Amino acid sequence: MNGYPSSQIITVPSEWKDVMDAILKTGGVVMVIGDTDCGKTTFSMSLVNSALASKMSVAVVDSDVGQSEIGPPACVGLGFPTDQIRSLGEIVATEKAFVGTTNPAMRIPELLVATERMVMKGLGRGADILLLDTTGFVKGSIARRLKCLKVDLVQPRHIVILQRNDECEAMISPYIHNRHMHLHRLSPSSDANWKSSFLRTERRRAKWIRAFENAHVIEMEWERCPFRGVWLGAAKPYPPLELREISEIIRAQAYHAEEQAGTLHVIVDRIPLEERAREGMDRRYPNLRFSYVSAETLRRLLVGVHDVEGKLLGLGLIQYVSFRKRIIGVLTQVPTPSAVGSLFFGAIRVHPDGNEIEMVPRL
Ligand SMILES: Nc1ncnc2c1ncn2[C@@H]1O[C@H](COP(=O)(O)OP(=O)(O)OP(=O)(O)O)[C@@H](O)[C@H]1O
Ligand SMILES: [Mg+2]
Repeated sequence: MNGYPSSQIITVPSEWKDVMDAILKTGGVVMVIGDTDCGKTTFSMSLVNSALASKMSVAVVDSDVGQSEIGPPACVGLGFPTDQIRSLGEIVATEKAFVGTTNPAMRIPELLVATERMVMKGLGRGADILLLDTTGFVKGSIARRLKCLKVDLVQPRHIVILQRNDECEAMISPYIHNRHMHLHRLSPSSDANWKSSFLRTERRRAKWIRAFENAHVIEMEWERCPFRGVWLGAAKPYPPLELREISEIIRAQAYHAEEQAGTLHVIVDRIPLEERAREGMDRRYPNLRFSYVSAETLRRLLVGVHDVEGKLLGLGLIQYVSFRKRIIGVLTQVPTPSAVGSLFFGAIRVHPDGNEIEMVPRL
């Protein structure tokens, strides 16, 4: 299921056609922005088909980490369609970059870097036209900053703005006098319709299932596979005796502890909330702050499995972590641990059946 029934007829309003013609004349990077369900993806798909019909080589970057069409959720995908498509989801991701969340506001820098990397790759392959589809996240100051930074990074030749009223104006106003960018304001087609939150969740679930279909567990030593996006494994662990002492003070099992930049990070079986625990730790470690992470938080946490050159090989879900043996088991479609160079910890826990468990904002 991708939300776009194959029998669906796409209407291309005449103003859309005019904009497409103008874009095809110059090619270059085309960024499509707009609120949710305005038709960004539908417009992108129509433009892909028009460009292919004009014998142009096309690259598409899908930076919608929530409703991904190209590649799995929580990633920016890049693909090179060669045949006419009925849905952007038909495009195979030849490359993808890990962001680690389905909520763009949670990881703006990661989303920007991933988007830029995929755009550069697409242009590096010599595409005549590169289409950048974006999230429908347009409201509020974070969204405005994100969109402006994306524009600054990828320097689109064309920005297509699909808006019902003037909801995108604040995002594009810095560029209205930019001589290198063409701004095209369009109204959504009268056939644009809302995707219910149920449909959005179901589409994402299907995508997660696909990402972990026939996955198996690969095991890696921490030392050979550094972690990113998390403090874990970067500093010397506290010895078992001290862990026991901490466990007694906080009245919870401390599995692992390491100190970084004035904070003692502790992995526990449950988060200690008692005032007594705080006082006890303050007395024992007067110069440190404390941060507790429940071991459960790491279970089924999404990770990006990267090779030694930093290329994303595939997604993974943490199955187990042994703090004593310093090994980690990851459920993934990546065939063997030998190719793995690092694990990028994400900010969402997902069950292999596709159900999202929770967001993990900070690790
Ligand atoms: N021109 C059109 N003709 C027919 N249907 C359309 C058209 N534009 C949009 N739709 C329909 O409206 C719905 C929303 O469109 P689409 O998914 O392209 O919007 P979007 O802006 O990409 O949404 P999102 O914010 O989820 O990324 C879809 O079901 C799509 O098929
Ligand atoms: Mg879309």
